[in-house]
Amino acid sequence: MVSMFRPGLMQGQKILVTGGGTGLGREMADEFASLGADVVICGRRGPVLEEAAKEMSGKHGVSVTPIACDIRVAEAVEDMVAQAFTGKPVTGLVNNAAGNFISRTKDLSPRGFNAIADIVFRGTFYTTLACGKRWIETQTQGNVVSILTTWVWNGGPFTVPSAMSKAGINIMTKSLAVEWAPHHIRLNAIAPGPFPTKGMSERINPSTIMGGAVSEGLGSGNPMGRAGEMQELRNLAVFLMAPGVEYLTGETIAIDGGSFLANGGNFSRLSTLGDEQWTAMREAIRGANEKDKAQRSV
Ligand code: HXC
Ligand code: NAP
Repeated sequence: MVSMFRPGLMQGQKILVTGGGTGLGREMADEFASLGADVVICGRRGPVLEEAAKEMSGKHGVSVTPIACDIRVAEAVEDMVAQAFTGKPVTGLVNNAAGNFISRTKDLSPRGFNAIADIVFRGTFYTTLACGKRWIETQTQGNVVSILTTWVWNGGPFTVPSAMSKAGINIMTKSLAVEWAPHHIRLNAIAPGPFPTKGMSERINPSTIMGGAVSEGLGSGNPMGRAGEMQELRNLAVFLMAPGVEYLTGETIAIDGGSFLANGGNFSRLSTLGDEQWTAMREAIRGANEKDKAQRSV
């Protein structure tokens, strides 16, 4: 599968992608860069960002700036966004950074809830605000695309902090689409179904967390019988971010092969798992978290 768009479509733009060093964020950042945009990527793992930036700028000949930042910290977001706007101003923001893990809600501590909500709900708001106020002050157009899930419409059993937080960002998208329309700032969102990534496979998908010992997997029963292909997501992100659909704002678009319509696209079927399986998944997820944490620079 290839890009749907003409070369150079995004020349002159500068797109900030949170969590752009890995997974879906890296895919979208790479697509913007391939179409001529300069890109800024942030995350907590400096070495991961630096490697991604080097690879993308080498491949596409555009500027890719890595900035280590923990979006849970409002002051750090302000510094990161100020740096991103230096030189050429940012023209678009992709709110992609997130934290998530599957868990029975009764097993969550307040800290476990906040570990997710502080990234997804609060961090996404801090980043949107820091960009939006700059666009308003300088009277320049801005464009925001937030990466959500289809759970914003029907809930996320066993992923409640993520579903709650993403539902909040869905409403932020609709609210600011109206409040900021007079400032020529638009906001839309994408609700992907399963697109296999390392971060997701290690924390969300029971069949990959448990190495096949649990058959229930993300995307089981998808009407198209497959997961999403990265190019499909890349194309949708460019459609929303590139010039040409300026009248489109306040929308959240699902890209899930019809999963949410057919079977809910969530983990409603996990009620059959017992204590032992939940404990094993928790330990496996913690192992993945610790490995990633060891690479954090902020
Ligand atoms: C219960 C858990 C837990 C688990 C962690 N905690 N894992 N509780 N079950 N499996 C609890 C800990 O016990 C602790 O609470 C609290 O959470 C904070 O843990 P830390 O490890 O200190 O968290 P932190 O360093 O802040 O890391 C944040 C994180 C981590 C969210 C926990 O997973 C992370 O950094 N993730 C980033 C990448 C990521 O999640 N990618 C997946 C996106 S995929 P106590 O009380 O014990 O101290 C995705 C797909 C969605 O979103 C849709 C698919 C269709
Ligand atoms: P991922 O690779 O784990 O992406 C998460 C990214 O967010 C990482 O680069 C991570 O980098 C960054 N991040 C997390 N906490 C951060 C913080 N506090 N500050 C700054 N950056 C932070 O997983 P993914 O699957 O690509 O997920 C990307 C997005 O897609 C998420 O919003 C996710 O909810 C959404 N999504 C994914 C799927 C899917 O099937 N993959 C489906 C629906 C929605 P650091 O760890 O270095 O900080």
